[in-house]
Amino acid sequence: MTITDKQVTDALKQVVFFKKQNNIVDLNMVHQVEINEKGIKVSVVFPELADPSVGIVSNSIMKTLKTEFGEDYTIDVKPIAEKDLGKGPLSGVKNIIAVISGKGGVGKSTVAANLAITLSQLGKKVGILDADIMGPSVPIMFGVEGEQPGVIDREGKPYMIPIENYGIKILSLGFFVQPDQALMWRGSMINNAFNQLMTDAEWGDLDYLVIDMPPGTGDIQLTLAQSYNIRGTVLVTTPQKIATADVRRAAMMYRQDKLLIPLLGIVENMAYFIPEDMPDKKYFIFGKGTTDELAGQLDIPVLGRIPIVEKIVESGDGGKPITIDQDSPVTKSFIDIATNVIKQSEILQTVNMN
Ligand SMILES: Nc1ncnc2c1ncn2[C@@H]1O[C@H](COP(=O)(O)OP(=O)(O)O)[C@@H](O)[C@H]1O
Ligand SMILES: [Mg+2]
Repeated sequence: MTITDKQVTDALKQVVFFKKQNNIVDLNMVHQVEINEKGIKVSVVFPELADPSVGIVSNSIMKTLKTEFGEDYTIDVKPIAEKDLGKGPLSGVKNIIAVISGKGGVGKSTVAANLAITLSQLGKKVGILDADIMGPSVPIMFGVEGEQPGVIDREGKPYMIPIENYGIKILSLGFFVQPDQALMWRGSMINNAFNQLMTDAEWGDLDYLVIDMPPGTGDIQLTLAQSYNIRGTVLVTTPQKIATADVRRAAMMYRQDKLLIPLLGIVENMAYFIPEDMPDKKYFIFGKGTTDELAGQLDIPVLGRIPIVEKIVESGDGGKPITIDQDSPVTKSFIDIATNVIKQSEILQTVNMN
């Protein structure tokens, strides 16, 4: 018996991808069918490979084709990730950078927002995604609080259009949920919402997508890290011992064998105090040296140090990140940080390509 492509494709219409409630043929998941006298090889495209559905669909393809064409044929199923085909909604995004911290209040959002602005000032195309559902502050910091992202239709599927300000594409869980409601959200709901902001959004071509991650090391952080191809993390800490102990724990989570997400380096926030009226003075009020110690232990660089300045609070609350002001001493710190992030990302990109 000679089997034709069409016979195989027709048979594969019986295989359903439950997540999208349709069969794999109509979902365009069948990438290639190869038939020879010994067997059939099918390559199938999945949104991501680290997902139980890959095994389920692969088994179902085996069974279906064996039933259809007999046990004598060897059936080979090759799962491929969308991103490896240059497909998928995030395929235009070159570098996903996750900004993480051990606990809240250390300046994670401040770093994420100003890193995004500075990368853009250095000529990069940038987006920011606020994944910190319990404390979404990106909309306030960018002055877009209360705005609602528009929707565009692509091949019958709706995609969110990020809000834009200061040349940055912005999406936040905060656009969709009030913080007091967020407390009632279960982990799976947060994951779903996050996935939608990542993959059901019109990010387009970006050099950098900066993610303001929730603080700490919960299930959500783990799932997020597992599901996406993150170029690296930026760790934010303050100089106190308690803060660095927490951030070390967070760092180790991203570094574990299952994930192996590179740590790009540490940003030391609130490193020293510069009084408004004495810009040449530096007071190390939270101590000195702890961040370097941590960097040494983790064998990663300190990407930069940000002083404590009153204006950071004002500018954050006022919807205009401080790095928009070219004369602020903070702007200089962020140029160092962004330059180092670009350097580290480019190194990692070349390593990944080889
Ligand atoms: N270097 C700094 N100097 C002064 N205030 C800062 C600095 N970094 C952050 N802040 C302020 O500290 C508060 C917490 O910062 P935020 O970025 O929201 O932290 P996180 O996202 O880690 O919870 C905010 O009010 C912010 O304006
Ligand atoms: Mg925050």
